[in-house]
Amino acid sequence: MTDDAATVFADAKAYTDEPRLHAAMAHLRAHDPVPRVDHGPYRPFFAITKHADIMDVERDNNLWLSEPRPVLTTAAADDVARAQLESGAGLRTLIHMDDPHHRKVRAIGADWFRPKALRDLQTRVDELAKRYVDRMRDIGPECDFVEEVAVGFPLYVILSLLGLPEEDFPRMHQLTQELFGADDVEYRRGATLEERMATLLDFFAYFNELTASRRAHPTEDLASAIANGLIDGEPLSDVDTASYYVIVASAGHDTTKDAISGGLRALIENPGELERLRREPELMGTAVEEMIRWTTPVKEFMRTAAEDTSVRGVPIAKGESVYLAYTSGNRDEEVFDDPDTFDVGRFPNKHLSFGYGVHFCLGAALARMEMRSFFAELIPRLDSIELAGTPELAATVFVGGLKHLPIRYSLR
Ligand code: HEM
Repeated sequence: MTDDAATVFADAKAYTDEPRLHAAMAHLRAHDPVPRVDHGPYRPFFAITKHADIMDVERDNNLWLSEPRPVLTTAAADDVARAQLESGAGLRTLIHMDDPHHRKVRAIGADWFRPKALRDLQTRVDELAKRYVDRMRDIGPECDFVEEVAVGFPLYVILSLLGLPEEDFPRMHQLTQELFGADDVEYRRGATLEERMATLLDFFAYFNELTASRRAHPTEDLASAIANGLIDGEPLSDVDTASYYVIVASAGHDTTKDAISGGLRALIENPGELERLRREPELMGTAVEEMIRWTTPVKEFMRTAAEDTSVRGVPIAKGESVYLAYTSGNRDEEVFDDPDTFDVGRFPNKHLSFGYGVHFCLGAALARMEMRSFFAELIPRLDSIELAGTPELAATVFVGGLKHLPIRYSLR
């Protein structure tokens, strides 16, 4: 059972079958909390399934490094990425970096995610939330909530923050889906590594042009801050600059889409909680936090041991990697009462959906703001809502959630 259970971490389809997934993870937490996984097209790794262990690993960022294996990709893709990096052409985002470089690069964008900058963005976010809820009303009484609403809203927010023109939004949408949905046939451009790399090169081409234009004519937006950012007095390299846009555009989009659509699904499937939130709108803050725990849009990040060490007594040699199983940590019975219950009033809620430590999600406050704004607009206007078909989850080993959420509703 244990060996079988641990394969869920190396099987993109496992995330499309939530009962199997949660049963396997609960089994591992109880019986084999740090299993070695050697399955599928991946190099072996150890899965970290307990909340406390995930925090310990993330806290000790001198021992546990993001380089050279920040996320789970196939052995073949690992090799291509390494070769690309060595040739100076690969993706190297914040999540690939370790301190001290990581800290300096993160500082370039960090001001744009602080409360003051976000306060300035609130009006635009509220306006977009209203635009999307109006759209829902106009196309009702049925829609695929993911395709019609959840995909567009966070993308428009993040591209507004970057300062890109609205006519480029559809192209960015397609590229982020191809990049993040590479494990799912419905999204990816093609099955080969060359086709996947082509997506990345398209991203780079677009953003290289953006950098040149923002260096020539700086404006008041995040894209200008990135294009003109300095590290030790020097501009970011071309790879670091393009990678910065990629992480912001991609991390700020699919993740929030997954949390919003999975959050709505949870409200529909738990009508008592929807009613409670309608009656007590002051629960919006805890409700959004619970939606983020419940959906855990980012399934994992990885770290590699800089020295021989151990986790919960399991020896891990220098150079071996661990998989931080956020989905499992977020259902850990030792931390959450009734972890399999969706509770809009859950407090405290120390979920790990935004990670922990020096890589803690840069956009966490923005994601929370977007979700509060959207549900605060939607819920008071909703007379009824139900599923109009079967929700469908994406196959992934990294970021993912609902691909389709067919709903029927009546909206003012
Ligand atoms: C519900 C939505 C979101 C979730 C679940 C999420 C989750 C995460 C996670 C798990 C990490 C890695 C943390 C770690 O390694 O400890 C991360 C990093 C990051 N996120 Fe998010 N994220 C979300 C929304 C956003 C948004 C809206 C942005 C906006 C740009 C964003 C930008 C980033 C960036 C730039 C990093 C890299 C930080 C670093 O390595 O220093 N995320 N996110």
